[in-house]
Amino acid sequence: MDHFALRNGELFAEGVPLAAIAEAVGTPTYVYSAATMVRHAQVMREAVAGCGVGEPLVAYAVKANPNAAVLRLLCGEGMGADVVSIGEYRRARAAHIAPEKIVFSGVGKTAEEMAEALAGGLLQFNVESVEEARMLSAVAAAQGRVAPLGFRINPDVAAGTHAKITTGTADNKFGIPYAEAVAAYAEAARLPGVRVQGITVHIGSQLVSLDPLDAAFHRLGGLIRDLRGAGHELTIADLGGGLGVPYGEGQPEPASPAAYGAMVRRVTADWNARLLFEPGRLIVGNAGVLLTRVVRVKPGAHHPWVIVDAAMNDLMRPALYDAHHDLQAVRPTGKRATVNVVGPVCESGDTFAMARAMDAVAPGDLLIFRTAGAYGATMSSGYNSRAITPEVLVDGGKWALVRRRVDVDALAGVEAP
Ligand code: LLP
Repeated sequence: MDHFALRNGELFAEGVPLAAIAEAVGTPTYVYSAATMVRHAQVMREAVAGCGVGEPLVAYAVKANPNAAVLRLLCGEGMGADVVSIGEYRRARAAHIAPEKIVFSGVGKTAEEMAEALAGGLLQFNVESVEEARMLSAVAAAQGRVAPLGFRINPDVAAGTHAKITTGTADNKFGIPYAEAVAAYAEAARLPGVRVQGITVHIGSQLVSLDPLDAAFHRLGGLIRDLRGAGHELTIADLGGGLGVPYGEGQPEPASPAAYGAMVRRVTADWNARLLFEPGRLIVGNAGVLLTRVVRVKPGAHHPWVIVDAAMNDLMRPALYDAHHDLQAVRPTGKRATVNVVGPVCESGDTFAMARAMDAVAPGDLLIFRTAGAYGATMSSGYNSRAITPEVLVDGGKWALVRRRVDVDALAGVEAP
């Protein structure tokens, strides 16, 4: 559910007409709804309430949308943070997310990143290899500290999602192979600078079926038993993120957060561990749109080309994953048309939709890409010397620019005159 809806024939974000934002900020621009984020945070909280020992921690995956205003809002909803770089760690802390609610994931943490996060404080390093555990131990020992560690397990389960966002098979770079986990824990327990306390798994993103997650969590449960049998005190099980969101017309409908919570409750009933979750897309995906304007329409061999002022550098998902984003006119006329929607960038990958039946639009009209709140602005670039798209946060009848447009001069490192 989201808060982008037609009112008197015009699209609003909560109480604000999108056309007014386009007028004030220009296009393309990302527009987020605070109410949608708050609602999704609640839905997630309720879905996993009562799972595991004590309060579960929902550690929002910062990579999905690291905007400072978004992080502050989610911090206010009680969320922690899953970070994958020292940049994300700093952003989480700047948004006042408490250190004891931060987990640090990622396959390539450097010694410098480890040192800064350890000194600043965090709940756990999610460590992806024995080599990394050795480095972490050395970094911690040099500070006279002991680093809290959980190993990320690669359960070798196919997630059934796009290959580029599958992370839990033996051919992926992530985690420690399931069969080598017991040996890895034994080695970590001998390292002076780490305290073994947790276990974690994340098998991919935009999962629509619960079955792969169920299978991965079962494997993790078996390992927890084996590891405890070997004398390791595991108190935290971090189940990662990955639950998909509905991307609209013709796209698969993912399992609900409530069904996910019920599955987790069933599978983890006897784990006797505190549970962590790292949702990203679920919280912010449908809380954002990319607002764009039609530059021109030119004839095509099969369908007209609708050329918009947003491009692959602003929203990479279609080019990178063949992802579908619903398109909708801000002031629909009621007419429909079948068109190709593309950006101005000079490569054919800059294609958002082919043969899409959608609201008919003309040059100068505004339209939105839906479900662009996750992995949208954060993956943008200045390719083709295009400005980095600004971001706006709407809250009720108010809106604020929460990230300025980064123009070409700034990108080129040139002082503006
Ligand atoms: N935890 C870890 C360790 C992750 O690597 C990720 C996402 C998450 C949590 C959050 O996953 P989510 O709940 O958002 O599915 N750029 C791609 C998605 C990449 C996801 C990377 N890892 C896209 O646009 O679809």
